[in-house]
Amino acid sequence: NERKLAVAIDGPAAAGKSTVAKIVAKKLGYVYIDTGAMYRSLTYSVINNQIDINDVDVIMNHLHEIQIDIDADQQVFIDGENVTDAIRKDEVSKNVSAIASIAEVREEMVKRQQKLAEKRAVVMDGRDIGTHVIPDAEVKVFLIASVEERAERRHAENVNKGFASDLEQIKRDIKKRDKMDSEREVSPLKKADDAKEIDTTSLSIDEVADTILSLVNNEMRS
Ligand code: CDP
Ligand code: CDP
Repeated sequence: NERKLAVAIDGPAAAGKSTVAKIVAKKLGYVYIDTGAMYRSLTYSVINNQIDINDVDVIMNHLHEIQIDIDADQQVFIDGENVTDAIRKDEVSKNVSAIASIAEVREEMVKRQQKLAEKRAVVMDGRDIGTHVIPDAEVKVFLIASVEERAERRHAENVNKGFASDLEQIKRDIKKRDKMDSEREVSPLKKADDAKEIDTTSLSIDEVADTILSLVNNEMRS
């Protein structure tokens, strides 16, 4: 009869949130919820349907019309079509912060995310999990790393997959997205006052995961 907790992981692009969130969830037997994939899916579908990214009413109607599903293996589906790889493409990354800055979009996404976290036993990553989605999460971490390190991580991922990749371009795109996410009016990217900040610049994936797991264990014992 161990306590079931909510673990909130926030931070800027490529700080390692999803990589460590998956490991932590697996170790704990919790569900991992990738909230970025929800905003990316809507953005992908908006682009695909040639909807004006400034037309809030049409975007909201569209959000209510489509079905976004994420399965236990992190495969993402829009109306049954597997879009797991498509939502990571550059064009989506470039437009997602604009879509995610729309108050109405956030309100609907947060509602869905809170429903998923209702019964706890979740590891959720994003930008506003500790501040808005699960403000009463038992464990909150805020992952950061230098922009150089984060750009190199994304670059290495592209190279590994055999994709064309320009390190300086990635760095510019990451900086731009972080700025938009941090400066938007509704629930911006921000460390919650009670979140533990972890600088992952020179840490391995396992070191970061172990740090979070020890925070969880401490909380379970308290
Ligand atoms: O993995 P990466 O850091 O590249 O991005 P992501 O976690 O997939 O999130 C993509 C974008 O969705 C972010 O840049 C934010 O604009 C938005 N997002 C958000 O606003 N709030 C969240 N809870 C999660 C993502
Ligand atoms: O979810 P977020 O955008 O914060 O980052 P990610 O998609 O997990 O990407 C981080 C990348 O950096 C992955 O390729 C990881 O293998 C790598 N990495 C890491 O996540 N954590 C470290 N401490 C070192 C490297």
